[in-house]
Amino acid sequence: MVATAESSRLSTRKTLPKNSKYSSLWKKLRKMRNNGQGNSVFLDNRAVLIGGHRALIFSGAVHYTRSTPEMWPRILSESKRAGLNTIETYVFWEQHEPQEGVYDFSGCRDLGRFLDLCHEAGMYVILRIGPYVCAETNFGGLPWWLITKAGMVTRTLNKPFMDAVDGWIRRLLAEIGDRQITRGGPIILAQLENEYSNVSGRYGADGQKYLEWCVQSGRAAGLEVPLIMCEGAPDGVISTLNGFSVWARMDALRKERASQPILWTEAWTGWYNTWGDAHHIRPTEDIAYEVLRFFAMGGTGVNHYMWHGGTNFERDGMYTQAASYDFDAPIDEYGLPTDKSERLGVLHRMLQTHADLLLHGERLPPEVLVLGDYPQNADGVMLHAFKLDDRELVIVINGNDWPKTARVRGVQMTLPHKTAVVLLGSGGKYEKLYSTADRQPVEIRRKMEDSGKSLAWKKVAEEPCPDAWKGVAIPHNMLFATRDETDYGWYSATVQREDDGRAVMRIGVADRATVWVNGRLVGVPVPARLKEDRKPGDFLFDIEVPLRRGGNKIVILVNSVGLIKGDWGIDAPQSEERRGLIAPVLLDGEPLDVEWGFAAGLIGERSMALNGIISPDVFSASGGTSLPEAPVWLETSFDVSNRELEDPRPWAFDATGLGKGMMFVNGRMLCRYWQLAAPDARHARHNRHPHLVTTGHEIPTQRFYHIPADLLHVGRNSLVLLEELGASPEATGIFRRS
Ligand code: GAL
Repeated sequence: MVATAESSRLSTRKTLPKNSKYSSLWKKLRKMRNNGQGNSVFLDNRAVLIGGHRALIFSGAVHYTRSTPEMWPRILSESKRAGLNTIETYVFWEQHEPQEGVYDFSGCRDLGRFLDLCHEAGMYVILRIGPYVCAETNFGGLPWWLITKAGMVTRTLNKPFMDAVDGWIRRLLAEIGDRQITRGGPIILAQLENEYSNVSGRYGADGQKYLEWCVQSGRAAGLEVPLIMCEGAPDGVISTLNGFSVWARMDALRKERASQPILWTEAWTGWYNTWGDAHHIRPTEDIAYEVLRFFAMGGTGVNHYMWHGGTNFERDGMYTQAASYDFDAPIDEYGLPTDKSERLGVLHRMLQTHADLLLHGERLPPEVLVLGDYPQNADGVMLHAFKLDDRELVIVINGNDWPKTARVRGVQMTLPHKTAVVLLGSGGKYEKLYSTADRQPVEIRRKMEDSGKSLAWKKVAEEPCPDAWKGVAIPHNMLFATRDETDYGWYSATVQREDDGRAVMRIGVADRATVWVNGRLVGVPVPARLKEDRKPGDFLFDIEVPLRRGGNKIVILVNSVGLIKGDWGIDAPQSEERRGLIAPVLLDGEPLDVEWGFAAGLIGERSMALNGIISPDVFSASGGTSLPEAPVWLETSFDVSNRELEDPRPWAFDATGLGKGMMFVNGRMLCRYWQLAAPDARHARHNRHPHLVTTGHEIPTQRFYHIPADLLHVGRNSLVLLEELGASPEATGIFRRS
């Protein structure tokens, strides 16, 4: 049993009398429950115990807000069919409390409903609460408004941060606390914080105290299930591993935390895509090999991250993250099973069939069959075995990049490169159960088919919003004005000159800007590709501007591409995140001493929020004048018949030919888009990664954008785009995935 203060909190104490009169009865009942009767969850040094029994955990990450309630039942039933017994999800504070004290648990944010569906599907849940979650989500899951609090430093022992976290955890637990297994629900484990080791160097001892405080705060708010932390857990909290491969770290963790089981909270099934980078694929054989190596070394719980990746709807993606979060996950972005889910399903079911050996069998000392050159015989051939009664489960691993021959329980075997083979022995005879080298006979091929709908487009040019704020001081963090409800902000100023001539204007901008002087476009001073991690100097740009005698009107449209997901994105605490004109504006090296005005958002966004369409009235009321090459609003509509809506094939928008912007379906923002091409193979970020294959070089990172069917209705459906780069929508189309 994990000997921590945690253990005593796990039973169904709520329903049991605690005063002295009943205490012996209570203790007896608790003992019974711990022996397998009732909704208890414990851990011993081997596994998670549910209702008193050790369980093998096959879990898949499905982020509820990256799909829609209509998609959830299918995703869950496909997950179950692939042998999963658990669903893992993060909780996205930022999406549930977008403004301080304003909560949203509706639609795809209806976490309670999602958990209930998991329960109905007979699945357990690992809930990774955060408050910080990373996950390529906006601001790593923290709400933007934290930065407005005086003295705020995120993710450390800081009172303003801890007060905000405390309020949120209490609110969250009021919403979903009853879904813990201890109260009859599906949640078996809860994670607090996330991969703290990535930032622990910055926060030192205070950081460790903060982690301990997270536990107290979670417990006080009503967390009853065991707590885990991945990659950085204080004593007393179950420490778990993340990565493409974790077997090499298991022995060290076992030594350090002898009383807990080894759980793999993030077995990465692929990788995410940022705008302008190649697509990532992780071969199924490689996942199966690593998962088997993990179980061979005594691991008893794996969570595939992601199992269903889904879509970053609206503005929920982090800085530079593409709208698709497909991740090359086993269930594809559209909620459909793939070859990968089918093949991993075979592995899960095979292991589950022999769970008794893995959970209760004697783990024999690993044997070196062929000696390699690397530590822990990473590149040699290893044999791991579990014995129970007269049965033996043998897992042979060839970690070498070449085939190897070895004698396995008396039989000579040739093991292809990087393979794991499972054998079952009984009465001295061995049969092969599984090999990662065998391709199971499943071939799921999906394609996109043009629905044939013709789209006729209308165009309205965006206009600079009249200044809502006068006299803003530069550097200026526009998040205070946009409240992170829009990506856009307009700056304007008038510069007096005594002569005609040219000058060099230096601006510091996060993330992108378009600059006009006296009604002329003078530059879009951003690198074509944005780096995920930036240094302050990366934001400075010099633009040559023509100026004339008298007043010169400067207009700058700043565009945010999402907020960073972690401190390392700005090399500072996240609370220092900024958007807008973030450095003093210089003209020919001198500070530009003028009055700046600022307006948040676009007129078209206001129109969409008010009427769900681009209505000319809202534009004419703004009194603005259009600028050349300003963003344009493109509007179209298409008919959907009853028969088409009943057809289960998912819908997608083909963005071929577009530039960059946002898309709206039936008045609701779907997502950001950016048709930025990936570099050639030599320059793709993960081109030589040992676990990833990159594809899609020199074409846009994302061509198709998922339109969930529940956004559509029978009859006329509207599609609105904000196109920032003036591209033509003529080559776009509506597609179905089959
Ligand atoms: C991990 C992190 C996850 C996710 C993943 C990459 O380090 O914990 O939240 O960001 O990387 O996809």
